[in-house]
Amino acid sequence: MSQARTNLAILGLQWGDEGKGKVVDLLSPRFRQVVRFQGGNNAGHTVVVDGQSIALHQVPSGALHPGCFLVVGNGVVLNLEVFQQELDRLKARGFDLAGRLLLSDKAHLILPHHIALDLWREARADKLGSKIGTTGRGIGPAYEMKASRMGIRLGDLRHPEVLADRIRPGFEEVRLRLGDREGLPTLQAIVDGALKTAEPFLPFIGDAQGHLLAAWERGDSILFEGAQATLLDIDHGTYPYVTSSSCSLGGLFTGTGLPPKALDKVLGIAKAYTTRVGAGPFPAELLDATGDRLREAGREFGTTTGRPRRCGWFDAPITAHACRTNGVDGLAIMKLDVLDGLDEVGLVVGYRTGEGGVTTRLPSCAAEWADLKPEVKRFKGWASTRGFTDHRQLPPQAQAYLEALSEAVEVPIAYLSTGPDRTEGCVYPGTFLETLLG
Ligand code: IMP
Repeated sequence: MSQARTNLAILGLQWGDEGKGKVVDLLSPRFRQVVRFQGGNNAGHTVVVDGQSIALHQVPSGALHPGCFLVVGNGVVLNLEVFQQELDRLKARGFDLAGRLLLSDKAHLILPHHIALDLWREARADKLGSKIGTTGRGIGPAYEMKASRMGIRLGDLRHPEVLADRIRPGFEEVRLRLGDREGLPTLQAIVDGALKTAEPFLPFIGDAQGHLLAAWERGDSILFEGAQATLLDIDHGTYPYVTSSSCSLGGLFTGTGLPPKALDKVLGIAKAYTTRVGAGPFPAELLDATGDRLREAGREFGTTTGRPRRCGWFDAPITAHACRTNGVDGLAIMKLDVLDGLDEVGLVVGYRTGEGGVTTRLPSCAAEWADLKPEVKRFKGWASTRGFTDHRQLPPQAQAYLEALSEAVEVPIAYLSTGPDRTEGCVYPGTFLETLLG
């Protein structure tokens, strides 16, 4: 198998959970370096090996391929306790990452007071009607501390003598808000816990930017694995119902320290329908039996929190926005088979506005989203696409649907998934992905 020389980014084009894990797992044997660059253990992907699934949150999906070196970039926020659990689970299944894992010394730590603040804020927001529906993993506060210069980098763990002084300012601010009654651990307990958890990781912490620059210069192939997705991006998503990192392409460069020319192609991942977890605008949402059916057929329950996902038709305007934001070269359309057996399949091609027109423009504020109603184009359903490995053999109705979808977002399809297994799906001939895999 020839090593690819195309450095590729894999990015979610909706609100997350598009099936990026399957694509990364499928492609990673062709890459030497697999890199996470943003997010934390709010992400979750399930990789299926020999019929058994392993849930990963922070470990890059290339973990299951011994030829992949795994890098966690500086843009990530890490919960080391959870990371250790993932490493233990992998080890129990025969995947040892020793010697092929590097954690950026500039990545930030998620600490217990960040998690406490996240949970406190969400509980309070529930009463104020401003709940985001976060994963409760402390992601927002960890990034907040980073931006307000009170964050703790992994590199700080090498200096235990000053760790309490580094953590104190952020901890005291959280204590001011939560008071002493909210079950916050003491500063000393947080420091001791961080040092104890960090101990086994110290050999893995280092200069990830230097490592990646050297890998790029010597021609190693690099796969960048995005977490969450563009509509959850802090700038380009449906703010304020977003996560706190840059999940779109810009985050790749700030989150690794590599220059844009280190990247060759972008593969955008979208489901053949749309889901979202947590609160926020979702014009394509189906609050009826069809939505329930998509949830059941697609097993749309969160990998991280187990929450049922909201389900709806494929939303072309949001996906087109994500494609433009990221300069997507090709689409990977996932879970087409979940639409099997429906009498008709809808495609949201625009939004009807309060004034009566139709627009494909995304509003910049939550209040304007509320006025939009989906403009749905309907297609005849089909019996089954499960396990198809050649898109030209698909039922004609499914082909017509996919063509319209690709036309609406103005990007060609490069990969189609027709089932959860690695073997269920196809690479489209003539696309960059075929060349890359060739
Ligand atoms: P946070 O990232 O935990 O702060 O959550 C902010 C929003 O992003 C919430 O709506 C979450 O449900 C959503 N979110 C965060 N990570 C993921 C993910 O990996 N998949 C889907 N939604 C996510």
